[in-house]
Amino acid sequence: MSNRTIPPVLIVVFGASGDLTKRKLVPALFSLYRQGLLPDHYGVLGYARTDSSDDQFRAELREALEEFSNVAPGEAEWREFARHFHYQQGNYDARADFERLAERIKEVDAAHHTESNHLFYLSTPPSVFKPITTLLHEVGLGQENGNGWTRLIVEKPFGRDLASAVDLNQHLRRNFKEDQIYRIDHYLGKETVQNILVFRFGNGIFEPIWNRNYVDHVQITVAESLGVGDRGGYYERAGAIRDMIQNHVMQLVALTAMEPPVAYDAKAVRDQKVNVMRSIRPLEPDEISDRVVRAQYSAGQTGGKSIPGYRETEGVDPHSLTETYVAWRLQIDNWRWKDVPFYVRTGKAMAAKLTEINVVFRQPPLMFFKDFDNDYHIPHNVITLRIQPDESIHLGFDAKRPGPIIDVNPVMMSFSYAETFGKKSAEAYERLLLDALLGDGTLFIRGDEVEVAWDRVNSVLDGWEAEAKANPNLNLPAYRAGSWGPDAADNLLEAEGRYWRNPYHLVKHQ
Ligand SMILES: NC(=O)c1ccc[n+]([C@@H]2O[C@H](COP(=O)([O-])OP(=O)(O)OC[C@H]3O[C@@H](n4cnc5c(N)ncnc54)[C@H](OP(=O)(O)O)[C@@H]3O)[C@@H](O)[C@H]2O)c1
Repeated sequence: MSNRTIPPVLIVVFGASGDLTKRKLVPALFSLYRQGLLPDHYGVLGYARTDSSDDQFRAELREALEEFSNVAPGEAEWREFARHFHYQQGNYDARADFERLAERIKEVDAAHHTESNHLFYLSTPPSVFKPITTLLHEVGLGQENGNGWTRLIVEKPFGRDLASAVDLNQHLRRNFKEDQIYRIDHYLGKETVQNILVFRFGNGIFEPIWNRNYVDHVQITVAESLGVGDRGGYYERAGAIRDMIQNHVMQLVALTAMEPPVAYDAKAVRDQKVNVMRSIRPLEPDEISDRVVRAQYSAGQTGGKSIPGYRETEGVDPHSLTETYVAWRLQIDNWRWKDVPFYVRTGKAMAAKLTEINVVFRQPPLMFFKDFDNDYHIPHNVITLRIQPDESIHLGFDAKRPGPIIDVNPVMMSFSYAETFGKKSAEAYERLLLDALLGDGTLFIRGDEVEVAWDRVNSVLDGWEAEAKANPNLNLPAYRAGSWGPDAADNLLEAEGRYWRNPYHLVKHQ
C-alpha cells in the first residue's frame, strides 16, 4: 500500500452537514492525512442545503474530530488540515445551484491545484441520489473530458428491491460510466474481510480442502447486540434481510465461496463474486418456509440493559411484520459447493455483537474416540474467521488431555490481529476512501453484484408478501432480546444434525 500515491484531487461531499461526514468521512481523511497518505494538493468541498460557511463548516468538523477521531488534532496540524475544507450551500435538485457549484469547484480546483480530478461522494439519503447525479451530468461535472478523472461514491442502500436497484443502476449509468461508480459496502473495508482472500488464495494449505470433499457446511453470523433504538420508523421500512443479508452477508458468502480470480484486480475479483452469487439457488415460493426463518425480538436484556420488544418500540407498528432476525439455508449450485449448505443468519438485539464465518469440516470416517468425547457428534474441525469484535482466525481440532486415560477435548489454534500486528486495524472508511482516490474498485460493489444479490433476496421478499396477503393474522415468531435467536433457527440446523456455533459454545470447549 505504501507505494500507492494519491494524485491531486478535489472531494465533493453531498450531504456534508450529516452524520456520516462527521462520524466517518472526515475522521478517515484526517487519519490518512496524519499518515502522510493524502497528496500535497487536495481540497474537500462540502455541499448541503444547510446554511453554513467555510469557517463554520471547519469548526463543526473540528468538533467532530474531537469526538470521533482516534487522535484529536493538535493546533498546527488542525490549521494545515482545515485549510483544505470548504462549504457550498445548495439544493440537491436545483440546476442553478449546481451551476453555482460548478463555478465554485473551478475556484477550489485552482486554489488547491487539484488538476481537475474530482471524487463526488453521495453522503445523503438515497431519495436524492437521482437528482444529484442527473444535475452533475447536466452541468458537465459527471463526464471525464480529458482534464482529470471523475468518480462517484454511492452509499447504500442500493435500492430496496430488485426493481428499484435495477432502476438506480440504470440511472447512474446514464450519467456515469460503470467504472466511475464506487458503491460502498463498508464491510469490504474491514481487514479481516479482505483477509478472507489472502487466507484462501495466499496459502497452499487451505484452498485444497475448501470444497465439498472436505467441508460439511458453512455458517455465517452477523449478530448485533443493540435493538433498533430510536430508529424504529426507519427500520420498519427495512428489516434484517434488506438491511444486512442483501449486502453484507451476501458479500461474505461471495468471498467465502468464490473461485480463485485470475488476478487480484477489480474486474477479476468481482467477476468471480458475481459468478458465485449467480450459483445461489433462488428459492421457489413453496421452499421459503423450510429454508428461511424470520422473527422479531421480544423484550429482554442486551449488554446489561433492558430493552422493549420490537413491536413496542416507538415508530413501530404494533402489528408489524418487519423481521429483526433472519436465518437462511443457502444452497450454492456449483462444482465446488454442491450439497454443502451455507447457513447464514443476522439479527438485532442478539446475545453478542459478532460477525464470523465458520467453515465446518467433515468428521473422520471412523470415530475411534467417540467414547472419550462427550460432544463427538459436534464437529470440532472448524476454521473460524472472526470479523468482529476481535478480528481473529481460529482453527479448532481435537486433542488428548494430558493424563493416564484418553480424554478427548476440542482445542483452538488462534491468530489475533491485534496481538500479532500490535496495531489497531484501520477504519473501513479509511481504506475505502484511499482506494477510491487511487481508482482501485476491487473493494467496491459492481452494479451486477447488487442486482444478483437483490434477485435472490427478492425471491424471499415476494414469498413473504404473498404469505402476508394469504394470512391477514400472520405473526412472526419471537426471540428474547439478548438470546441467540428463535427456536425455529436452531431447528433449521438441528433437523439436519447440525448446530449453530454460538460463542458460548466456543467458550465451553476451550
Ligand atoms: N451514518 C452512518 O454511519 C452511515 C453508515 C452507513 C451508511 N450510511 C449511508 O450514508 C448516507 C448518509 O448518511 P448520514 O447518516 O450522514 O445521513 P443523514 O445525516 O440523515 O443525511 C445527510 C444529509 O443529507 C441531507 N438530508 C437528510 N434528509 C434528507 C432528505 N429527506 N432529503 C434531502 N436531503 C436530506 C441533510 O443535509 P441538508 O439538510 O443540510 O441538505 C443531512 O445532513 C445514507 O445513504 C446512509 O444510508 C450512513
